[in-house]
Amino acid sequence: MAVSRKIVLCQRPVEMFTDACFEVIETPVPEPGEGEAVVKIEYFSLDPAMRGWVRDERSYLPPIELGAVMRSGAAGRVIASKNPSLPVGAGVMGMLGWQEYALIGGNTGAMANALPEGVDLVDALSIFGSTGITAYFGLLDIGQPKEGETIVVSGAAGGVGSIVGQIGKIVGCRVVGIAGTKEKCSWVVDELGFDACIDYRTENVVDALGDACPNGIDVYFDNVGGDILDAALGHMNDFGRIVACGMISRYNDAEPGPGPCNITNVVKRRLRMQGFIVIDYLGRFAEAAMQLAVWAAEGKLKNRVQVVDGFLSAPTAVNMLFTGENTGKLVVKL
Ligand SMILES: NC(=O)c1ccc[n+]([C@@H]2O[C@H](COP(=O)([O-])OP(=O)(O)OC[C@H]3O[C@@H](n4cnc5c(N)ncnc54)[C@H](OP(=O)(O)O)[C@@H]3O)[C@@H](O)[C@H]2O)c1
Repeated sequence: MAVSRKIVLCQRPVEMFTDACFEVIETPVPEPGEGEAVVKIEYFSLDPAMRGWVRDERSYLPPIELGAVMRSGAAGRVIASKNPSLPVGAGVMGMLGWQEYALIGGNTGAMANALPEGVDLVDALSIFGSTGITAYFGLLDIGQPKEGETIVVSGAAGGVGSIVGQIGKIVGCRVVGIAGTKEKCSWVVDELGFDACIDYRTENVVDALGDACPNGIDVYFDNVGGDILDAALGHMNDFGRIVACGMISRYNDAEPGPGPCNITNVVKRRLRMQGFIVIDYLGRFAEAAMQLAVWAAEGKLKNRVQVVDGFLSAPTAVNMLFTGENTGKLVVKL
């Protein structure tokens, strides 16, 4: 009997994920019922949000239950189908979880869609998936950048940040990144066209932002929160926009960290700081994917993906997001 391995959550992490959080179970590869299709998963998307999904607290999605397959974006191909709109061979992307095979369509309730023909599975998980779309709407809709303004983006060499900075250049802004190594800074400046990048591990971010943003900051795209958010707040211009996309520096905290002391500038400088979740834009995903595809085809947008090999590497590889061992979008190849 063909077997499908699944990685299930068996214990909630206190700080970083550990091996003890997960166990591997085996179930038969599913057979499709009427209207259903079986997907053989080829890639998992690893996302910082996963750390939030395993917390037992109220959020924009229900917490993953103990004993459930770890929630994850994933992409693969249909290998068996009783649904004409999901033919064998079709690429599929969705919230398919850390498992080798997934049943979709019919009444399964699986959040998954067939991909247009020819779309690469890794592209579907990165530039044209929630990573690129988060960058697109976060910057353009929430950040509302205007030509000539200064954008600062943290997590600049990561999946979302690297695309934010490039879109910032496309719309005619000065773009300053903040990232965790000299190599990452060089990559976003030399390869992606950022105007400058600050290495937050070796530089004083408050001073460096002053040097890199002589006209202040108009849009701060925050991926990390904490001290870096605080530093950016201190340099915001009147009526600036802060895109509160993520606060990864806090995700592994067992106890809440200290609050940013410049947060009062949100009031004093009449800043709008707005949280958003990419699924709010479900109805407009195609619009973003089309524009991202055009920019990619024109060579204006580069998509760097770091691939970790092996189904069983997922629980360890997810921690690379927190140690900064990834550059660009991190995926697992099964
Ligand atoms: N709102 C939404 O709908 C939405 C959707 C997708 C993602 N997000 C958020 O967007 C952010 C980026 O996500 P991603 O998928 O593109 O991940 P990513 O940026 O590819 O990977 C995470 C990066 O965060 C940096 N980092 C980790 N710990 C840090 C710390 N303590 N201080 C500063 N930087 C730290 C690391 O780079 P360095 O080497 O530079 O430290 C790491 O490479 C996350 O906060 C995520 O939660 C939000």
